[in-house]
Amino acid sequence: MTDRVIPLLDESRQGLRAPVRPHATAPSGLVLDGLKRPLRDLRISVTDRCNFRCSYCMPKEVFDKDYQYLPHSSLLSFEEVTRVARQFVAHGVQKIRLTGGEPLLRKNVEILIEQLAALRTPEGQKLDLTLTTNGSLLRKKARVLKDAGLDRVTVSLDGLNDAIFRRMNDVDFPVADVLDGIEAAQEAGLGPIKVNMVVKRGTNEQEILPMARHFRGTGVVVRFIEYMDVGATNGWRMDEVMPSAEVMAHINESMPVVPLEATAPGETAQRWGYAGADGQYDPSLGEVGVISSVTQAFCSDCNRARLSTEGKLYLCLFAHQGYDLRELVRGGADDAALAGAIAAIWEGRADRYSQLRASMPPDQAAKSGRRIEMSYIGG
Ligand code: GTP
Ligand code: 5AD
Ligand code: SF4
Ligand code: SF4
Repeated sequence: MTDRVIPLLDESRQGLRAPVRPHATAPSGLVLDGLKRPLRDLRISVTDRCNFRCSYCMPKEVFDKDYQYLPHSSLLSFEEVTRVARQFVAHGVQKIRLTGGEPLLRKNVEILIEQLAALRTPEGQKLDLTLTTNGSLLRKKARVLKDAGLDRVTVSLDGLNDAIFRRMNDVDFPVADVLDGIEAAQEAGLGPIKVNMVVKRGTNEQEILPMARHFRGTGVVVRFIEYMDVGATNGWRMDEVMPSAEVMAHINESMPVVPLEATAPGETAQRWGYAGADGQYDPSLGEVGVISSVTQAFCSDCNRARLSTEGKLYLCLFAHQGYDLRELVRGGADDAALAGAIAAIWEGRADRYSQLRASMPPDQAAKSGRRIEMSYIGG
């Protein structure tokens, strides 16, 4: 067991005051940060609770029965979330992802989805509305989510071997129920479905090939994620990271792949298409992806903003603090002031943690400060 840094949550959760611009200009659909990156993707965490205890995210020793989750009064209401989201959309956000914790644990989350699905970009387009889930409640909720206007889901699944998976979620949850949830999402039309697998060397790398093989040709896109030093509770070590290049080389040996173009600027995943007998990409076999935040940082065109459950705006997954938008919302700020604050915060953004980490000595990364937990801010 490595030394664990127990986070001082009070401090890291203390909000930064959001700037108020008295004569903010109206949003133009484009706001650039200090590194000329537009704001396109908003991730909204709707709960800090989860029914799993994945060791890399909510280790049991920290997230135990005494752990203080956010009280209900501090959560943004659905109306407040939608109001804030509308200002982000006016600034150019085209994709909204609901995250958690486990977002399907938030009561009546479909009502929020309905409200968000009604938003339109300045050009009158619908948003790409998606949600990241551990799949445990998908069988029960897939249809309702679709009917509310959700476009698609991404399901986290760290292996097909039941014993390994039960150990990784650490609540003895069976693989079969997640697979059933994925099927329910497919039946409900919540596709294209993506499945995210965090690869931890020494824990689940033997699951890479079975996962790739299982989903090849099914329309489900598996993405293998490098285990990240996010948060401060998971005891991250560089030697537990399996570089994506190694993952892809391994897959390519038994299921040949060819590189595919990115579908959108700022995309997290590098895409690979399965090749047919002629060595060319065969769309009927589908694609697979890798997310290489550790070995190949993708900060240079990162267009993602994160809104916490209690209304703080974080500019990076590895940020220490967020800007308190709830204070503005509850303090009577009008839409212009809210939009102005969001623009000012984004314009001041220079975050690029993963790029900077690449030049840190390996162990410094694991120790660099009190970062916010992934369960608090979502993937
Ligand atoms: P799609 O539009 O479905 O492709 O979404 P996505 O790839 O943007 O989102 P998803 O939430 O599925 O991201 C997958 C994983 O990539 C997350 O769970 C994180 O582990 C990681 N990730 C996502 N965004 C970031 C980011 O901005 N920085 C870093 N370092 N990792 C990220
Ligand atoms: N490293 C990489 N990805 C992580 N996630 C959570 N913790 C980590 C971590 N330490 C991502 C996984 C999971 C999603 C909810 O968050 O992709 O599927
Ligand atoms: Fe829950 Fe997802 Fe974190 Fe696992 S990774 S504990 S399922 S929020
Ligand atoms: Fe964006 Fe921060 Fe992730 Fe870099 S580390 S891609 S800046 S969220």
